[in-house]
Amino acid sequence: SLLHDELAGDEIIVVSNREPYIHHRTAEGVEVRRPASGLVTAVEPVMRACSGTWIAHGAGSADRETVDLNDRVAVPPKRPSYTLRRVWLSKEEEQGYYYGFANEGLWPLCHIAHVRPVFRTADWEYYVTVNQRFADAVIAEAHTDDPIVLVQDYHFALVPRMVREKLPRATIIMFWHIPWPNPESFGICPWREEILEGLLGSTLLGFHTPFHCKNFIETVDRYLETRIEHEASTITYGGDVTQVEPYPISIAWPEGDLPSIAECYRSVRHELGVGEKHLLALGVDRLDYTKGILERFQAVERMLEMHPALIGRFSLVQIAAPSRSSLDEYQNFESRVRMLAQRINKRFGSENYEPILLKIQHYESDQVVRYYRAAEVCVVTSLHDGMNLVAKEYIAAREDERGVLVLSQFTGAARELHEALIINPYHIEQGADALYRALTMPELEQRDRMRAMRSLVRDFNVYRWAGRMLLDAARLRRREQIRARIH
Ligand code: F6P
Repeated sequence: SLLHDELAGDEIIVVSNREPYIHHRTAEGVEVRRPASGLVTAVEPVMRACSGTWIAHGAGSADRETVDLNDRVAVPPKRPSYTLRRVWLSKEEEQGYYYGFANEGLWPLCHIAHVRPVFRTADWEYYVTVNQRFADAVIAEAHTDDPIVLVQDYHFALVPRMVREKLPRATIIMFWHIPWPNPESFGICPWREEILEGLLGSTLLGFHTPFHCKNFIETVDRYLETRIEHEASTITYGGDVTQVEPYPISIAWPEGDLPSIAECYRSVRHELGVGEKHLLALGVDRLDYTKGILERFQAVERMLEMHPALIGRFSLVQIAAPSRSSLDEYQNFESRVRMLAQRINKRFGSENYEPILLKIQHYESDQVVRYYRAAEVCVVTSLHDGMNLVAKEYIAAREDERGVLVLSQFTGAARELHEALIINPYHIEQGADALYRALTMPELEQRDRMRAMRSLVRDFNVYRWAGRMLLDAARLRRREQIRARIH
């Protein structure tokens, strides 16, 4: 209610690359899907609660003529509460801005996964053009001269400054959903100053962890002439003040009717064609080289070497949603994942047994929840991850207080979920030991750990994430309004 008072009458506009709903034309009509994206998982429930306008790239929604959609759609489909406004990009724009600069450049630049970033001038030019198109869309959608604009992620580093130039009184919140690297690593980017200047157009700049904030402030200190107030965590650049703060992202606590745990346990095993008592570990990721999927498979292999009694009685189900698949790096990764799964399955499997059940396909979120509720263990082995919401979703799905989370120390989530079995995914033996420990953990210990993590995720849910950010922004906004009145 505090938030409600603070924001009363304010206009909210969200900008992200990924759209919260994908409309597909099928033989039966238009089918609506939810994309696999941590960002969408987190921001969508907030938008449902606040309403306003969400501007996104109409990427997954086939081509606009066949789908015959307006640029604006009221969503969610069953209970519309906000407007989705799509920006349509040309093939070249999508290639240069999204695949090129954002995902071949900034993505590997910000994640330590030992994949070299690629920077091309042509991609950068598309990135600038597309950022300008989204900034123009914000300006066109704004009904007032001081909206609250929430810009999401590394696709739009330049948007805050571009919006600020046209709407100097806007309150601009930028949230960076991926890690921020140290100044040396970031310095590789040929357009590092431009990116930093773009981000410093924001009123409030959020990262998942204090460590990412520290890296960002040090990067600014290294490459730009600014005034940095460390205690207040503000950066003043050319008259604009940006507040830099950590806001660990989260999920909406599940509500409503779910199939019972016993039902999920049975039906998932039936679906997978395994026995009723078969032990299951579960991985759910986008098929991305940052997620440590190969290391996870290797840990399974090592565990089966060390504990042959588990052969035939245990499988890892790996759900891997295809992502960015036109990029070479992702295609190579996919074939390495398939090959490793095959090799391990050949080594330990038999005619009706596979230790690795690899599902390279999109699962809708209600399907994923059934798997969470059926698996004894959830394994998150990211080599580097801003937060990782799969870890939190698994915990939220286990109202029976059973199940164990194995979690990489290189995720933002590991800073909060201390009761998980925390591992270094590069250390295969350690991963194997943790997996075995998880599968054999006494019920009471499972319950203690799960209970502690559930209470944390329930309290620090995504409304809290958005609420803290919006409240901080609202205070900065009032301060600015008073200052403007005085002068
Ligand atoms: O949360 C990080 C992120 O890269 C988001 O920006 C993005 O929506 C999501 O992961 C999925 O990636 P993509 O949108 O490229 O499929």
